[in-house]
Amino acid sequence: MMKVSVLGAAGGIGQPLSLLLKNQLPAGSHLALYDVAPVVPGVAVDLSHIPTPVKVTGHAADDLEAAVADADIIVIPAGVPRKPGMTRDDLFNVNAGIVQKLVETGAKAAPNACYAIITNPVNSTVPIAAETLKKAGVYDPRRVFGVTMLDVIRSNTFVGELKGINPDDVDVTVIGGHSGNTILPLLSQQQVAFTDAELDMLVPKIQNAGTEVVEAKAGGGSATLSMADAGARFTLALARGLAGDMNVECCFVAVENGPADYFAQPVRLGPNGVEEILSYGTLSDREQGLMEAMLDELKGNISKGVAFVDG
Ligand SMILES: NC(=O)c1ccc[n+]([C@@H]2O[C@H](COP(=O)([O-])OP(=O)(O)OC[C@H]3O[C@@H](n4cnc5c(N)ncnc54)[C@H](O)[C@@H]3O)[C@@H](O)[C@H]2O)c1
Repeated sequence: MMKVSVLGAAGGIGQPLSLLLKNQLPAGSHLALYDVAPVVPGVAVDLSHIPTPVKVTGHAADDLEAAVADADIIVIPAGVPRKPGMTRDDLFNVNAGIVQKLVETGAKAAPNACYAIITNPVNSTVPIAAETLKKAGVYDPRRVFGVTMLDVIRSNTFVGELKGINPDDVDVTVIGGHSGNTILPLLSQQQVAFTDAELDMLVPKIQNAGTEVVEAKAGGGSATLSMADAGARFTLALARGLAGDMNVECCFVAVENGPADYFAQPVRLGPNGVEEILSYGTLSDREQGLMEAMLDELKGNISKGVAFVDG
């Protein structure tokens, strides 16, 4: 039996994500919803009326420990989203402390849990989660993930649209981090070829897709529905892996001897979480240039997260 806890479950991402999980987790799973917003027990009651063999429980602000107790997967979309004009790093001051506090409790109540971190800035909140678990003495680098799946599904959608292909048949590897220039889609590895003009349009469109949503929502939040879809895809892939059905997804994980201490790249998911970090293949000259141009920023985001916990 799999227990999945969603922390921030009453939010713009949390609610549709919980709906998708209620409908798609394997039979017998337990979906535990936690939020500081007092509506969360109601969200759980609401979802519990859907006839699927997944048990749903709701946990209000003072009930975090029960929400995460013995969880296999803790998904974290808790925290504030961007408003127009903000970068993901502008969210650091508020969201860093939220992630740290949630992971501190997870470390005690669910020492073997896998973490799927959605809260931005992902480039920093993932190192924050890792350092928090290290401090608590329960860190396993195979169990901490930044969710970058939204960059993958956006890439697949935009390539499908441009080339007239079913996006289900497109699978773009997206490496690096999850913010602006640190998002690096490896379009040179696709079956279809792109002209320079197409790349000049497509790469920034993928990198700025989150900002496109923030501006279109005009102060009402950032991507929630597409993120819920991406978050559910990733959580279900992780759950399949934990159950022994190994599969490969791109995500932001700790890597040894990589371009940075944490890096998004294809990972084989299995019973222990990260089973194997896979090669991201060969970069075109153009992609190599983009990689070199963004590494300092990515490393800076990572150090900022580490320093937040280690002082
Ligand atoms: N990884 C990605 O690709 C990606 C994409 C979109 C958004 N995000 C990020 O996801 C986060 C959530 O976005 P949203 O649109 O759902 O925001 P939202 O404001 O709609 O929801 C956030 C929820 O978190 C809750 N919350 C706040 N503090 C909490 C705490 N200490 N414990 C538990 N819950 C808490 C709030 O009550 C709220 O219900 C933001 O940081 C956003 O930047 C990430």
